Amino acid sequence: MSAPPDRTLGPGELALATAAVAACLGGGPAPRDWLPAQGGARLPGAVRGAVVALANRVLGERRRLRCRLGLPDLATPLPPDREAAALVRCAAAARREFPADQALAQAPDEHRFAIEHSLPDWLAAALQADFGHEAAAVAAALLEAPPRTLRTNRLRRSGRSALAAELLQAGIATEPTRFAPDGLLVAGEGDLFATAAYRDGAFEQQDEASQLGAWLTAPPPRGAVLDLCAGRGGKTLALAALLQNRGELLATDPDPRRLEQLRRRARVAGATNVRTVLLPDGAWPDLVADFARRADRVLVDAPCTGSGSLRRRPEARWRLGLEDFAALLRTQAALLAEVAGHLRPGARLVYTTCSLLRAENQDQINALLANHPELELVRLAEVLGGAVAAPIADATGTFLSLRPDRHGCDGFFGAIVRRRR
Ligand SMILES: C[S@@+](CC[C@H](N)C(=O)[O-])C[C@H]1O[C@@H](n2cnc3c(N)ncnc32)[C@H](O)[C@@H]1O
Repeated sequence: MSAPPDRTLGPGELALATAAVAACLGGGPAPRDWLPAQGGARLPGAVRGAVVALANRVLGERRRLRCRLGLPDLATPLPPDREAAALVRCAAAARREFPADQALAQAPDEHRFAIEHSLPDWLAAALQADFGHEAAAVAAALLEAPPRTLRTNRLRRSGRSALAAELLQAGIATEPTRFAPDGLLVAGEGDLFATAAYRDGAFEQQDEASQLGAWLTAPPPRGAVLDLCAGRGGKTLALAALLQNRGELLATDPDPRRLEQLRRRARVAGATNVRTVLLPDGAWPDLVADFARRADRVLVDAPCTGSGSLRRRPEARWRLGLEDFAALLRTQAALLAEVAGHLRPGARLVYTTCSLLRAENQDQINALLANHPELELVRLAEVLGGAVAAPIADATGTFLSLRPDRHGCDGFFGAIVRRRR
């Protein structure tokens, strides 16, 4: 990543980063989850942040670093401890973006883009096919350190200026996000979780792209919204705030642990209009099907490759293969078809992914529309207004289309589809 941690890490911290990388390479949790469980929670927030940032940078740059070190390419496994030690030593010594070096110049042509941008071959090929001459800029941005972004919880505070002033009092400087109306970008490494604002549920950590995804849903006042893939509730909570706790929000997901986290977060955030239902394998329960038939909006924040948010989960690029990609495409198409079968006339289906890949985004929506003539696209400008929509829409002004290299937030896609009356 081109933005290495600013502070110099001591030998103990480098050893911790190495152990975190080794654990992840060995199939264990990502550094942000591993470190607290290893006593890292006792470290000052800034040190912990720097250790995780270095471990993440190493995991993201893994393929490029191996090439730089003259190690065999990824198809040849190495013992995780050995690999982690070599990669961390190399990354910590470099301190700045690695120059194009000899080893990279000698990489076989068909793998050079993938190695240079430290991607698996299938993902490198998909980005090149979708973005052409801009693929390098997109791939480079996926190796940057991600911004720290908050969403002001309007159920707890009047708006982002009030929250910004409160955080500043606690020594944490922020600036407003460019596109999302309630977002704040955090400057520096201040410990957000030690603030009274955090304990009070005054904000959620949420990337600007994800905030815009919830905004796109634009529920009518007192409306009924089905959040079908609610997960831990990032968008559910944003929707509860948009609805000002009025109306009805049904949040569903097949993962009971995520729904439990959603309920806990909803309590802290003061979101009182949310119900949760666990989705079993197979057909939806009657309660969910009935709700879908009368909902004003159905949000499908679909399971996806997460290719747009790789800065936050750099290890994910090595854990996802072509078969996973194909399975995700099938799940997305099945979810869209299922929702289409329940949508009432005039209601909207909002489809979002944190993927940059056309196959998960426009292609899914085009296939849905081809199979369902009763559905029509709603252009972004119709929902957000032309001036707001223009900088965040695709070239045709139809879809929400966010890129890390252009917008600074995660890569993200959003489409709005309406059932004709
Ligand atoms: C992108 S994540 C959701 C993130 C969440 N909406 C948020 O904003 O925090 C996708 C979610 O889809 C869920 N999921 C996977 N298969 C599903 C299915 N068949 N139906 C509904 N949800 C599904 C996953 O458990 C996961 O929580």
